[in-house]
Amino acid sequence: MCGIVGGVAERSITNILIEGLKRLEYRGYDSAGLALVSQDAILRERRVGKVANLEQAVNESLVTGSLGIAHTRWATHGKPTENNAHPHVSGHVAVVHNGIIENYQELKDDLEALGYVFTSQTDTEVVAHLVHDALKSTSSLLEAVQSVVPQLKGAYALGIIHTDYPDELITVREGSPLVIGVGIGENFISSDQLALLPITNRFIYLEEGDIARLTRDKIEVFVNGQLVNRPVKELDATVSNASKGEFKHYMLKEIYEQPEALQQTISQALDGNALRADFLKQAEADFANIQQVQILACGTSYHAGMIAKYWFEQLIDVPCQVEIASEFRYRTPVIVNNTLYLCISQSGETADTLAALRDTQKRAVSKNINIVTMAICNVATSSMIRETNHSLLTLAGPEIGVASTKAFTTQLAALMLLILKIGQIKQTISEHQIQSIAAELWHLPKVILDTLQNNAAILRLSELFVEKQHCLFLGRGTHFPIALEGALKLKEISYIHAEGYAAGELKHGPLALVDNDMPVVILAPQDDMLDKLKSNMEEVQARGGELFVFADEHSGIHNKDRQHVVSVPSISATLAPIVYSVPVQLLSYHVAVLRGTDVDQPRNLAKSVTVE
Ligand code: AGP
Repeated sequence: MCGIVGGVAERSITNILIEGLKRLEYRGYDSAGLALVSQDAILRERRVGKVANLEQAVNESLVTGSLGIAHTRWATHGKPTENNAHPHVSGHVAVVHNGIIENYQELKDDLEALGYVFTSQTDTEVVAHLVHDALKSTSSLLEAVQSVVPQLKGAYALGIIHTDYPDELITVREGSPLVIGVGIGENFISSDQLALLPITNRFIYLEEGDIARLTRDKIEVFVNGQLVNRPVKELDATVSNASKGEFKHYMLKEIYEQPEALQQTISQALDGNALRADFLKQAEADFANIQQVQILACGTSYHAGMIAKYWFEQLIDVPCQVEIASEFRYRTPVIVNNTLYLCISQSGETADTLAALRDTQKRAVSKNINIVTMAICNVATSSMIRETNHSLLTLAGPEIGVASTKAFTTQLAALMLLILKIGQIKQTISEHQIQSIAAELWHLPKVILDTLQNNAAILRLSELFVEKQHCLFLGRGTHFPIALEGALKLKEISYIHAEGYAAGELKHGPLALVDNDMPVVILAPQDDMLDKLKSNMEEVQARGGELFVFADEHSGIHNKDRQHVVSVPSISATLAPIVYSVPVQLLSYHVAVLRGTDVDQPRNLAKSVTVE
């Protein structure tokens, strides 16, 4: 998705803007640009493709300045061309924008009638012209922006500069993330604090509807024209955990970070083999009343929710529904009293999940229905955390690779901890069972570490996938969602068409696809379904399919002709899906590397999907 970086300083900020954009590259984009105020002019460079192209252009043209805005664009309105890249300029105004201006066509028609000429197909350009026009009847850049904002419909974050205001950066947050990085004698903005971590660890998180004026020494935040106070928060995230270190890709680094990420996530809730007394304490009264759970999420986070459904119902007898947020939000679902609406999201900014949450909240209020909302999320400062009644953080650290890995496994650990807590409060799980799952959770990082030892074996298997066009992933029970997740991972980074199926569904259709050329990945933990799964494997082999099996070391499944087995350390059936996530991540990673794709920033995808 698009990224914004901007700043106002004493020194030249050209390199800060470029470095900031590089740190946002993981979000996915197709063009980049920047604009700086220098003397009486806006100096602008824009390039299609990577930030490196923009950097080269900037180095050649020597543009420099101490007030500027920069942007990585992920095309929504208009193709990825230089003309459509941001910043957009109108006279002496330059604008960068994340999100979508939904009523742009209407505004454009009005502006064209006034004589404004559009040079791009974007929705953003209207903002530049509107500010330009508003300046004719207002007395400051801030006032002009304040008069434009009520005309805009949609979700947006904006950065705006003007040559007549060489020490002023105006920013707006309305439905799209925006933070202010507080410096000494200089201040910055970004759509993601990661971009600013090399220069500050002090941030102001703007609220929806905030308009802020930044100068070198001052930050003023306004709501409806009134000055408001927004606290400065200090972050302890270090710069180093957002770099690749010794790894070739962020994705591989993040796969290897899972033991530690899980350890961190688990430690916040457990005291020995018991739940900590203070864990989710403030939610206890709400948990006691809930009768069912509705999970809302997208993509990989949705798969985590699918596994949680098995756990909620099997372990603590609480009915649980899980639904893709982009479907839920548009189908007028019945809002049921005493339901826990649980959003799962790595970023906490996914537009569909946020919209599903907000619509549900609104409808519950309007119908006077009592619901509880909660977020499981990896970003403490995200909209989802701020807008729900309760939250539980996954402590995975920043996840940069577009393919979600450590966020997924920590979501599963967090979900298990939440389920134990709800079961304890509702007394639907025994203390003995809590202790035994807690003991296993402590052991989990070590099991993941042992599973990672299979990396070389999985690399060898991946060579057999390089030329393939299609692939099936099969699992049963909680490993059906892992099959879906394996297929999603392979699709998104290697561009091989892959499907995940519940193995029992094979004979109801997908078996027709199986032939000599169809690799079938099997997830075979030691659980009650193992014998049934072995029968499904026979069905595939009888049709000439080639099997790639991730199997429990005691499963009795061994290598044979057209059956390649990677043995996975033993773990209880309950926590097994967390462990079996690792081999499917490694398989997808190695296949993608061998196929030469852009592993961390796969084509057409974005890390944080902040538009519909
Ligand atoms: C996973 O590898 C994906 N890149 C994607 O499916 C992701 O999980 C989805 O977009 C949801 O994101 P969120 O967890 O930040 O809400």
